Amino acid sequence: MTHPELAPEIMRFYTETADEADRLTTTADGRLEMVRTRELLRRYLPTPPARVLDVGGGPGAHARWLVEDGYGVHLVDPIPRHVDQARGTGATVEIGDARSLTATDASFDVVLLLGPLYHLVARTDRDQALAEAYRVLKPGGLLAVAGINRYASLFEHAAFGHLHKEPMRNSIGQILASQIHDGKKAFTAAYFHSGEQLRDEVTAAGFTETQVFGIEGPAWSMLAAAERNTGGDFRDTPLFESALTAARMAEPYPELLAASSHLLSIGRRPT
Ligand SMILES: C[S@@+](CC[C@H](N)C(=O)[O-])C[C@H]1O[C@@H](n2cnc3c(N)ncnc32)[C@H](O)[C@@H]1O
Repeated sequence: MTHPELAPEIMRFYTETADEADRLTTTADGRLEMVRTRELLRRYLPTPPARVLDVGGGPGAHARWLVEDGYGVHLVDPIPRHVDQARGTGATVEIGDARSLTATDASFDVVLLLGPLYHLVARTDRDQALAEAYRVLKPGGLLAVAGINRYASLFEHAAFGHLHKEPMRNSIGQILASQIHDGKKAFTAAYFHSGEQLRDEVTAAGFTETQVFGIEGPAWSMLAAAERNTGGDFRDTPLFESALTAARMAEPYPELLAASSHLLSIGRRPT
């Protein structure tokens, strides 16, 4: 089967620049993303066993605990290195693209899109990925979609202590205004959603009961700042617990979505 063309900078980034396999375990803010994504998903997942399609599942950080929880997981990702890394998770794996899934209609209870929507810069591509998720979900099935927050790079680069430097200020200013990172330096090609935009895209694709959560909440950048500026390990500290508590306490207040690093939208294919 031929897949839609993946932007070469995304292939290069995940194959040569970053090792996605340890992103959610080696830093405190990565761990916060993992703990919160897992607790938010567990709130909505059907009782196992159920079939989960993990689209853009990368090396399988979420596939692993989903399999341990008793779900039947099939992971799809366009990066061969990720698919190889995911083989040990207990999920079945496949090289593929969110815009053109091989799964048959109405064949999964849950579809996760924790990555593809922020790497598809064009709205038509994101709509296509959401339409594919809708097609392969059973009626009543659960969709979970991650976005990177529109303002995440502002908080991140302030926390790293270099936002005041001219090239950085210009580059982050451009991302804030255009909501797009071109993928030429540092991170790869990406689209940055506001909470409202993410909810609107999911709703426009036909999903109902749509909600948006801040994954890491409003205090993740303090954790990142402490870790990056001291070289210390903050994964098991009162500051980590405090940031985690802030993320939970922020949930009822949609204004605080703007301060989270990632957003998680939940929706359902209507019955
Ligand atoms: C930051 S990683 C997230 C991995 C994992 N889902 C997680 O949440 O930890 C983003 C993932 O999206 C995948 N991705 C990028 N573009 C995609 C596309 N068009 N279709 C499917 N996956 C894609 C990348 O290969 C990568 O594995």
